[in-house]
Amino acid sequence: MVKIPFFDLGAQYQSLKAEIEPGVLQVLESCSYINGKNGKELEERIAKYLGAKHAVGCGNGTDALVLALRACQVGPGDEVITTPFTFFATAEAIASVGAVPVFVDVRKDDYMIDPSLIEAAITEKTKAILPVHIFGGASDMDAIMGIAKEHGLYVIEDAAQAMGAGYRGRKLGGIGHVGCFSFYPTKNLGGCGDGGMAVTSDDELADRLRALREHGSGEPGKRIWERSGKGGKKEEAVDKYRNYMIGYNSRLDELQACVLLVKFAHLEEFNSRRRQIAALYSQCLTDLVQLPKYGEDTEPCWHQFVILSEDKAGLCDYLLRNGIGCNTFYPVPLHRQEAFQEAPCRIHGGNLPVVDGISAQSVCLPIFPELTDAQVRQVAETVNRFYEEKGK
Ligand SMILES: Cc1ncc(COP(=O)(O)O)c(C=O)c1O
Repeated sequence: MVKIPFFDLGAQYQSLKAEIEPGVLQVLESCSYINGKNGKELEERIAKYLGAKHAVGCGNGTDALVLALRACQVGPGDEVITTPFTFFATAEAIASVGAVPVFVDVRKDDYMIDPSLIEAAITEKTKAILPVHIFGGASDMDAIMGIAKEHGLYVIEDAAQAMGAGYRGRKLGGIGHVGCFSFYPTKNLGGCGDGGMAVTSDDELADRLRALREHGSGEPGKRIWERSGKGGKKEEAVDKYRNYMIGYNSRLDELQACVLLVKFAHLEEFNSRRRQIAALYSQCLTDLVQLPKYGEDTEPCWHQFVILSEDKAGLCDYLLRNGIGCNTFYPVPLHRQEAFQEAPCRIHGGNLPVVDGISAQSVCLPIFPELTDAQVRQVAETVNRFYEEKGK
């Protein structure tokens, strides 16, 4: 049996090894490990790519969310409207700044927060809406931005899984007040360790994000001082020993940044391969599974390919027995996590039937740029065979 892994980090490393290794050695030799030129270049390139004014590298995607919430001055006593169908970090970030996540149900077609339910969940405590572009699809940003504008709320996009995904001609993560990304190794743009980034076009928010990632250092509106660098050249410096907020130590180090610069140059090529794989799955898979239905005005980056099956356990077991890696994101929606039986949260409407249904049925098939067409066909044929055998 030829096995197909759920994900293969090794294949990507082997294909980029010759590009990655010289940069890593250069960083080691330079001894400039934090706040160096690679991080700055990555921030500039990603801001430009997303159509945003600023990008602020940080330690990981969870920190990007925490920094964004703090920059928007979300804290104790505030509520943040979000989706329960996401990785735990989304609501964990809200809780960790002392605010209360308010879970709103999702749409069955594309698994995104249902914008038609958001308005009724708003109270005088609501400070922000935090949509998640889960699996690299797109939340309905026009609807969400419209509601936020009407009610004076911030929008923080959790775009951890959506680097390179599009919505009505724009890049996700660059639409809300702040967009948050994760560079966890398996993400569409993933490093060789942890990393994250928050992007914004608001100067004041950018200033706070930069301060918060370094212990709240500087003074409001005057954080960057010029100093004389090597050869008398003027360079930017931070007054590290003056602090105006309680912040964090959350920076993107130079080793990660140099790896990410190499991978960023391949992002479009990798995402278009993911799109081809998704199209091939859609063409080959039986009608007995429900495929994700993304809006025509969106351009998903297919971080995951998730189908719904009424016999999730049976299908997963069959795939694994046939040597095919699979997963079930997310088996426990956040309002049902044990942590939120203790930590305060609010379930809009008292129950969330759509997300409960999706969690019970979601099966993630292998998707990564190095997967071949033959492997995609083999996965699809195995899924189809499961249904044929079941029907007999
Ligand atoms: C939707 C979502 N939000 C937030 C995060 C947190 O990112 P990180 O693992 O880099 O902290 C992740 C990734 O793991 C994620 O998938």
